[in-house]
Amino acid sequence: MMEGNNKKIYMQEVVTRDGFQNEKNFISTDKKIELINQLSQCGYSKIEVTSFTSPKAIPALRDAEQVMQGIIRHPDITYTVLVPNIRGAERALSCDVDEVNLVMSASEAHNLSNLRMARETSFYGLCQVINEVQPSNTFINVSLSTAFGCPMEGNVSLETVLSWVARFEEKGVHGITLCDTTGMAYPTQVAEMVAAFKKRFPYLQLTVHLHNTRGMALSNALAAIENGADRFDSALGGLGGCPYAPGATGNVSTEDLVHMLELMGYCTGINQEKVLKAAARLPALVHHDVPSQVLKAGHRLNLHDIPDTIKEHQGN
Ligand code: COA
Ligand code: ZN
Repeated sequence: MMEGNNKKIYMQEVVTRDGFQNEKNFISTDKKIELINQLSQCGYSKIEVTSFTSPKAIPALRDAEQVMQGIIRHPDITYTVLVPNIRGAERALSCDVDEVNLVMSASEAHNLSNLRMARETSFYGLCQVINEVQPSNTFINVSLSTAFGCPMEGNVSLETVLSWVARFEEKGVHGITLCDTTGMAYPTQVAEMVAAFKKRFPYLQLTVHLHNTRGMALSNALAAIENGADRFDSALGGLGGCPYAPGATGNVSTEDLVHMLELMGYCTGINQEKVLKAAARLPALVHHDVPSQVLKAGHRLNLHDIPDTIKEHQGN
């Protein structure tokens, strides 16, 4: 029997948020919309469309309203957006999003550099956002950045992370994303964190958000699955990175993760051919090469012709 045994793994595409937020060249609103519409045909469970942040902080996503209102929404997909504060929540609700993804960091230093406030101030502000969003029945997720390590502070303890999760659970949020913002997570750490999370918060939707900064993202994903995770953020082409986290590079690539999981017998619901087609458009869109490996190498069973010289030899 294959290891995955058809277990469902939910895939959440973040390229137009985590991926594009860090791009120097502005990607036009039309091109963003066209890409999201293409991604909506690929079988994702969720798509993080954009972020309703300050246009000064994240100029690449300054067209959030136009993008959110311009896309064609597939009824089976949850369209989520990143929201840092009340102003962001109001903007997001005015676009009738399916989910708001609130953000704060598990480490103080990253929260200060990314959101310009202490974690307690963030928590207080996000509680106000939660109160504002709750009556609309919009799904509320909280992303905890630097949950597996902070590029400025180093290790972040499991207890620190889980205590923030507990405070948000008490406020009635639906889901939590544990973010490895700068690829500091390693498999045994992920295993311990996910197991502890699932034991303590069995009813919260858990997403694991991995970056491949140190080449461990695929191993970390497997460690997460073995301990009960079934939902991952990933970015087409392996783009991504937080502009306020030193050394941040790409998310785990969607096509690399799906390629591996499908070979192992997991069911991602993703159409690999369509995803690869969408990924192939990225270098022209962002004007540089992208880190994805399967995009370069193709599916493992994309076979090549035997060279003519060998064929001749065989014929003799
Ligand atoms: N949407 C649009 N504009 C916003 C906004 C939002 N959600 N939040 C704040 N602003 C504007 C304010 O109106 C103000 O504009 P002004 O200078 O023209 O008056 C300006 O941004 C500064 O507002 P202030 O409340 O002082 O916020 P700040 O400068 O301390 O920034 C954040 C705080 C969180 C809004 C900002 O740092 C941010 O958006 N960060 C994005 C973090 C991020 O997405 N990181 C990557 C993903 S993890
Ligand atoms: Zn990220």
